[in-house]
Amino acid sequence: MNAPREEFGSRLGFILAAAGSAVGIGNMVGFPVAATKNGGAAFLLIYAIFVFLICLPVMLAEMAVGRKTRKDPLGAYSELTSNQPGWRLAGWLSIITPFMIAVFYMVITVWIFGYLFNTAIGNLDMLANPDYFGGFINETSIFIYMAAVSAIVYLILLGGVKQGIEKAAKILMPTLFIMLLGLVIFVLTLDNAFAGVEYYLVPDFSKINANVVSAAMGQAFFSLSLGMGIMITYGSYLSSRDGIPGSAKLVALTDTAVAFIAGLMIIPAVFSFNPNTDTADLSDSSLSMIFSFLPQIFLALQTSIGYFAASLVAGVFFLLVFFAAITSLVSILEVPNAAIMDERNVSRKKSLIMLGAGMIVFAVISATSFGMLNFTTEFVNYAGAPKSFFDVIYDVFYDTILPLNGFLICIFVIYRWKKANFNSALEEGEESYRNSFFQKYVDFSMSTFIPIILLLIFINTVAIKFFGYSFIG
Ligand code: PHE
Repeated sequence: MNAPREEFGSRLGFILAAAGSAVGIGNMVGFPVAATKNGGAAFLLIYAIFVFLICLPVMLAEMAVGRKTRKDPLGAYSELTSNQPGWRLAGWLSIITPFMIAVFYMVITVWIFGYLFNTAIGNLDMLANPDYFGGFINETSIFIYMAAVSAIVYLILLGGVKQGIEKAAKILMPTLFIMLLGLVIFVLTLDNAFAGVEYYLVPDFSKINANVVSAAMGQAFFSLSLGMGIMITYGSYLSSRDGIPGSAKLVALTDTAVAFIAGLMIIPAVFSFNPNTDTADLSDSSLSMIFSFLPQIFLALQTSIGYFAASLVAGVFFLLVFFAAITSLVSILEVPNAAIMDERNVSRKKSLIMLGAGMIVFAVISATSFGMLNFTTEFVNYAGAPKSFFDVIYDVFYDTILPLNGFLICIFVIYRWKKANFNSALEEGEESYRNSFFQKYVDFSMSTFIPIILLLIFINTVAIKFFGYSFIG
């Protein structure tokens, strides 16, 4: 099959698709929860610094490598190094990582879909019961929701780059913005909402310590969909007429803006529910925020606006998070899909069937690791605790391999592919990048502190996660 490589139809389509990948559950809930716990605007400030000063150059690297080679990550690393085994390994990591993260992201998306469905059929009161979630994740109905989510993702991916991924992003992303703004406006009209706004926007630097800084960095890196081969793959579909640096800046900006605005939705909602909220009592986990806490807040609205309207608000919220999750899931699955298509020379349809089969096996296994099956629930033991299959995927791929992949791509573009090639790839479609201040900054940072920071995060995570040892207290 030597059909010409598919391309995005326009620069806007590319930006929306990449932003669709970046804007996910991490923005809608992960960021607001982290900001609430860690000093509000102080956290936001540190997060934004990381997004623009550390993550953005890494995004440029991924997009440039993809666009230059017009290949999936494995093909890209192989082509630029004439199949050097060590770098091919980095290529493999960049397709296995998204596959495994997709498994874990799929499970959460399935839960969101289940909550959306139950809200739509009038079961908000049931969802608001704090014990509901624990039972819900072990019901077999999970697998029906999983089939539905898989079908949606499959159909989008089957449409290809322009008619599937780009079209979905062009519909889902604007709808997502509108729903988000609508919810923010609604939440701000609630009693005591401004106590939440104040809490969010007045920075509390006393909460900032080494762990918070490291959490902000991890959140920024994940939120921009880095280290998963996604930006390499999407970059490989970008026309050479379109500029990378300007597009990447817009993606980073959109992602950060959505995270910030999501904070304006979640934090005031928490305060309007309980004006005396002690944020120290809120759970650290964004999962318990979405699935246990927020449904209670939505249900409480019924005293002022009635059950139907309260369900409507909850429905819009879950639909919003669901849209955010779907565009992310599509992007992450397109990575192994592109790899199968490129490396095995098969059609999109065949490749998707192969990928789908593998995905379903892993997703089903990880969906059973919350008590349904003993074997997957207590899969292994490390750092002094039993870990489920789901935990292992999270610890190994999300927490550990992501920064490693980030480190590898930095070292790769600067020292193996070489700066001059990297720069000329970034000038393609954006001449003004040459000798700009931004170019000098990217050059300098990528050859010095960015890889060092990513390597340190990797080492620190391995020490904490697998040896129970923390360097930073
Ligand atoms: N950027 C996504 C988020 O913030 C993370 C993600 C992207 C996860 C793509 C999986 C796939 O939630």
